[in-house]
Amino acid sequence: MGVVSHVNSSATDATKRRYNRISRIYDIIEKPIEVAFFRSWRKDLLRMVNGRVLEVGIGTGKNIPYYPEGASVLAVDISQKMMERAKKKATRATTKPTLALMDAENLALKDHSFDTIVATFVYCSVPDAVKGFQELKRVCKKDGMILLLEHVRSKQPLLGKLMDVLNPLTVRVAGFNINRETERNIERGGLKLILEKDLKGDVFKLLMARA
Ligand SMILES: C[S@@+](CC[C@H](N)C(=O)[O-])C[C@H]1O[C@@H](n2cnc3c(N)ncnc32)[C@H](O)[C@@H]1O
Repeated sequence: MGVVSHVNSSATDATKRRYNRISRIYDIIEKPIEVAFFRSWRKDLLRMVNGRVLEVGIGTGKNIPYYPEGASVLAVDISQKMMERAKKKATRATTKPTLALMDAENLALKDHSFDTIVATFVYCSVPDAVKGFQELKRVCKKDGMILLLEHVRSKQPLLGKLMDVLNPLTVRVAGFNINRETERNIERGGLKLILEKDLKGDVFKLLMARA
């Protein structure tokens, strides 16, 4: 399992630094919500993968245990330190992804080369999410599937406004936005949104898209 480097930093530098900084405590902070919700959502999501898989923003590798045995997975992230944690998790897993440092906005990957693309809670922190989705459109096969778990801005007026107010804080402290309209960004990136399913309120969603 090699770690290859393809990061064109600059726009992504601040995000990379934030995730490098919080990598040691990331799993600890997320533990309660992971146990309560994310774990079962990940299991359901990863049952759907097939063929050659790209995971964008693998982070500390929380999806790794749930890949079907023998799945062929390339996993990328911009944060070396998050990825070091993923590498450790992979040593204990039956499916060991190939890991590569890479910017989601500028994937060093061939056109139409993946059957399934997975990303969980990533496009809240990719600086230019629309550019990121344009890249997914490029690297996904025409009949491929893009599977996402995301939190998005609530359409309830009060909660939506609160998310707008708190957003600068979450970006500064943890590197992610809580008020992104990711459903719209998917379409702005040229992808076809084929499923939008509420998992918790109208904030946490399963999103499925095609190139
Ligand atoms: C909130 S974490 C989610 C990690 C993991 N997917 C999970 O479900 O726990 C977001 C991840 O996206 C990565 N990321 C943010 N911007 C990125 C970019 N431009 N290219 C690649 N990865 C990026 C971060 O480094 C971080 O590991």
